Amino acid sequence: MNSKNRDIISIHDFSKQELLFILKTVKLMDGPNPNLLKDEILATLFFEPSTRTRLSFMSAMGQLGGKVMGFANTGTTSIKKGETLWDTIKMVEAYADVIVIRHPLEGSARLAAEASSKPIINAGDGANQHPTQTMLDLYTIQKVKGKLNNLHIGLLGDLKYGRTVHSLATALSHFNPIFYFIAPQALQMPQTYLDELKEKKIKFYTTPNLLKVSKKLDVLYVTRIQKERFPDPVEYEKYKGIYKLDASLLPNIKKDLKIMHPLPRVGEIDPSLDETEHAIYFEQAANGIPVRKALLALVLGKVK
Ligand code: CP
Repeated sequence: MNSKNRDIISIHDFSKQELLFILKTVKLMDGPNPNLLKDEILATLFFEPSTRTRLSFMSAMGQLGGKVMGFANTGTTSIKKGETLWDTIKMVEAYADVIVIRHPLEGSARLAAEASSKPIINAGDGANQHPTQTMLDLYTIQKVKGKLNNLHIGLLGDLKYGRTVHSLATALSHFNPIFYFIAPQALQMPQTYLDELKEKKIKFYTTPNLLKVSKKLDVLYVTRIQKERFPDPVEYEKYKGIYKLDASLLPNIKKDLKIMHPLPRVGEIDPSLDETEHAIYFEQAANGIPVRKALLALVLGKVK
């Protein structure tokens, strides 16, 4: 597959074969490769806060010998003077070979891709999509479960505003899962994703109650309530802290259940679970490095 110059905007743009090809590339690129992206420049444009996505892209680029520039907030940029996203991208494409962007507006990464002749990688556009997170989630699941097919997957928390669960549900739908969407009704999976699953004949259940389904799960993917996406702070106060996983869950799960979280967590998972064999969220975040190394190498045409 030739991915040179390919944008990574939405998981909808990737077929099952393409996702499997990316996962294979991650494994093939395992190990040091300090000159692969020598003379290439990555721009990281973060209009929203990030720890994992921004730093793991920076580290991945550095480990492959490339250079990084960019901003972690707009405070020191000309966006403060009113420059548009389109004009910002038109400038940055002249300075860099690949651009990673996180922005609060849904569709912003697609707009950036229209403006840019250089590959654009979506690092999260509002509540919409976070495709590189999904690729590292798939890589993690495949690594710890030994397969992607026929798994019982629970997605818990803020399924309305959480972009990681949107991308992940679409990606996993290629692999015949049974989904358990665990959220209060007001924060359930958007209808458009449920319709997509119905069309693909994927089984799913919705419930606010984790204990009703916890014994069935192979993977439990926990998300935080996305405070920054609530139009009404009073609504956020209603739902914050609604799920708090702790040791009381352990008698109610399979021995080999794996608990994932895109992080940051803000109280959904008690640290007492961190040392259990169920917790894989730190390993999951660490997998951001090999996955993003592979994605950078692919879109810059250095591996095929
Ligand atoms: N998982 C994730 O996107 O984390 P950051 O917001 O820290 O990048």
